[in-house]
Amino acid sequence: MVNIMRVLLVGAGGRENAIAEVLARDAELYVVAGHKNPGIVRLAKDYALAKETDVPRVLDFALKWGIDMAFIGPEAPLEKGIVNVLEENGVPTVGPTREAAMLETNKAFARQLMEEHKIPGRKLFRVFDDVSEMKSWIDDFGRPVVVKPLGLTGGKGVKVVGYQLKDNEEAKTYAEELIKRDGKVLIEERTDGVEFTFQVFTDGKRVVPMPLAQDYPHAYDGDVGPITGGMGSYSCEDHLLPFIPKEDYEKALETLKATVEAMRKNGTPYKGILYGQFMLAKDEPKIIEFNARFGDPEAMNVLPILKSSLVEIGEEIVDGNLKGAEFERKATVVKYIAPKGYPTNPVRGVKLHVDEAKIREEGAKVYYASLDENFTMLGSRALAVVGIADSLEEAERIASAGIKHVSGEIFYRKDVGTRESIARRIELVRAMRGE
Ligand code: GLY
Repeated sequence: MVNIMRVLLVGAGGRENAIAEVLARDAELYVVAGHKNPGIVRLAKDYALAKETDVPRVLDFALKWGIDMAFIGPEAPLEKGIVNVLEENGVPTVGPTREAAMLETNKAFARQLMEEHKIPGRKLFRVFDDVSEMKSWIDDFGRPVVVKPLGLTGGKGVKVVGYQLKDNEEAKTYAEELIKRDGKVLIEERTDGVEFTFQVFTDGKRVVPMPLAQDYPHAYDGDVGPITGGMGSYSCEDHLLPFIPKEDYEKALETLKATVEAMRKNGTPYKGILYGQFMLAKDEPKIIEFNARFGDPEAMNVLPILKSSLVEIGEEIVDGNLKGAEFERKATVVKYIAPKGYPTNPVRGVKLHVDEAKIREEGAKVYYASLDENFTMLGSRALAVVGIADSLEEAERIASAGIKHVSGEIFYRKDVGTRESIARRIELVRAMRGE
């Protein structure tokens, strides 16, 4: 008799629903998360409610269930050292250690590593703990800056001159607040261009690329409104993006490979999923940020078209013998539904009506997120509808048809993956590069 592996998943957002779906193809799934995600509940053999950052409790469940391998979805438990603790207690785990996750959890560490190892795609930056030094540096620099807290902020702490900040004067005021609050602040040059997401698997040495994706972080159509966790994303059947020349793709991949190599040399080997958030700038793709996990929503672009077994990939990552990953040549469009008022003042505790059968009839998939078992919204992005097809146009049509079968106090972006919104991005790159 073949022994089915027991895999533990930590987390219960839309990203984790997509991870759960592919893990459950080849393993018995066990889950620890802060709420009961209705999409994950139906895939799981057992499901415990606990804070994802409560590492001792996660460990207790892992040991009680006899888990063979753990998979960590979100970044917060990585920062708490969940991978260190599980592995020290004999539970092989897919994800970076606390030290390696610093690529995401400490933005100064990431910038310094890039500088020290001369990794391509780096930006000019300074870390300050002194208010007057910071102010005079910004004055001397003279060009627009980005102000970043060093640690995790759930996407809310980064402020850019020309967007969330009017000018460098406002940047100085905000940076001063951060120095007073956190003791330190990171100031970077602002880079203009078009952002894209590049996710890879890595076992600490080998890097295996996933299809590129593009996220829509603004709340409303036309790329306006507050920055959110991401209101949707798309990927193309050729696994590239329409505005990214092949040589820029190669440069971005080189950045991620050089980062993994630098982490190995640094004595903090990086294993798991590495997410490069890039800006395609005038001269080259620049790193905006690293994330130490799958993107949310971008996991929902790449995982439904993963042909290989995620359980096997996980085992190879853990064992340090990653071989590869195959993806279907399909385009995908993910549209997230959020409660009205998200992200600043979301309605909570209100029920959603989801006609899953009709969504499926349209050919679309559903992944649940910040929603409990009774379909009550918990305040963050509630669920995502995903279209998958041979072309982007068809994937977008399917996602748009599917999303009409969800009703309640909600909103979503109609322009995710549309021809017009992508044409705007292509135009921006052409204009920037003088083509
Ligand atoms: N979509 C952005 C993120 O996952 O951080």
